[in-house]
Amino acid sequence: MDKVKVAFVGCGGICNFHLSHLLQFDDVTYVGFMDIRPERAAEKAALAGGAKVFDDYVQMLDEARPDVLYICVPPDQHGFIEYEAIKRKIHFLVEKPMALNLKLAEEIRDAAAEAGIITAVGFQDRYLDIIEKTKEFLQGRQVGLVDGAWMGGIPGVYWWSTYATSGGQIVEQNIHLFDMVRYLFGEPARVYCAAARGLVKREGYDLHDYSSAVITFKNNIVATLFTGCYLDHNVPHKNGLHIRCVDSEIRYILRQSVELDTGDSVQLYKRQVDQGVTEDRTFLDAVKTGNPAIIRSPYSDACKSLALTLACNQSIATGQPVELN
Ligand SMILES: NC(=O)c1ccc[n+]([C@@H]2O[C@H](COP(=O)([O-])OP(=O)(O)OC[C@H]3O[C@@H](n4cnc5c(N)ncnc54)[C@H](O)[C@@H]3O)[C@@H](O)[C@H]2O)c1
Repeated sequence: MDKVKVAFVGCGGICNFHLSHLLQFDDVTYVGFMDIRPERAAEKAALAGGAKVFDDYVQMLDEARPDVLYICVPPDQHGFIEYEAIKRKIHFLVEKPMALNLKLAEEIRDAAAEAGIITAVGFQDRYLDIIEKTKEFLQGRQVGLVDGAWMGGIPGVYWWSTYATSGGQIVEQNIHLFDMVRYLFGEPARVYCAAARGLVKREGYDLHDYSSAVITFKNNIVATLFTGCYLDHNVPHKNGLHIRCVDSEIRYILRQSVELDTGDSVQLYKRQVDQGVTEDRTFLDAVKTGNPAIIRSPYSDACKSLALTLACNQSIATGQPVELN
């Protein structure tokens, strides 16, 4: 395949993100855009040089016959779209969180594997050059405690403020750091999460304003992750991870930089390469070469990060730790 035929379902903010990368590649043709708000699909289609706009994604898949589908809809809109892609053996990149119900995600995982299609989930941070440096530095080092945070305000998207539509901040947003600790430290055994409300006053909002999750990994590392959406000021330089090794420590500032500190010397690396470009290039290359092994977040792996974040919600609801298998 010289050119990859791409279609999008869901044409909001994250569609913009992927499209801005794909437009840098000369081996993509755009065969369809669909959104329940047709003006959004039309706007993205125009950016892509006048691609066709559809008002029904089933019709789009049948008529436009894309090689790959970007699924960029809100968290509560998954299921039918994936099944229609799987039925037609169309490879897809789906945004996190891939569903708000683990059973649905696991059924999609199994159906996609059965169909032999290539899947990727939008955990863009796995493609960061500074995370590659972090992984290299961690080789052979022993880690005890990790702490991290994703704190901010309420995002502007219409579906964010209820558990039913977004899954809450851990599942929708901080899932990036929950996925990152799995990427760096392996599989969790157990999680306990405490959360509270009262600082955010908004009509229709039913989320927790902040939470603290303690994750015990199978290798005994203990990570504590803060999540909060009650801030009225920006603190991007405070978000990230702090990893305490026996002989050193790592200070990762979310999507910006990492400091590798051995006590005698500190190496500072700033992000050089746009991880979103690497993420999308990797997905297209996997499809073109038929090699899914290069994808850093296939659907089957992402299900484990989804399970971890949904377990946090369960722990908040029950007040009990949740065992993970
Ligand atoms: N990977 C990342 O870093 C990252 C960043 C932002 C958002 N996201 C994820 O991407 C997803 C979308 O977020 P967004 O910020 O683009 O939201 P958004 O609201 O800006 O865009 C979603 C679009 O989907 C459309 N839509 C809703 N239901 C649909 C349906 N059934 N069929 C077709 N279109 C439908 C909406 O009209 C809207 O235009 C969310 O799951 C979010 O968590 C990921």
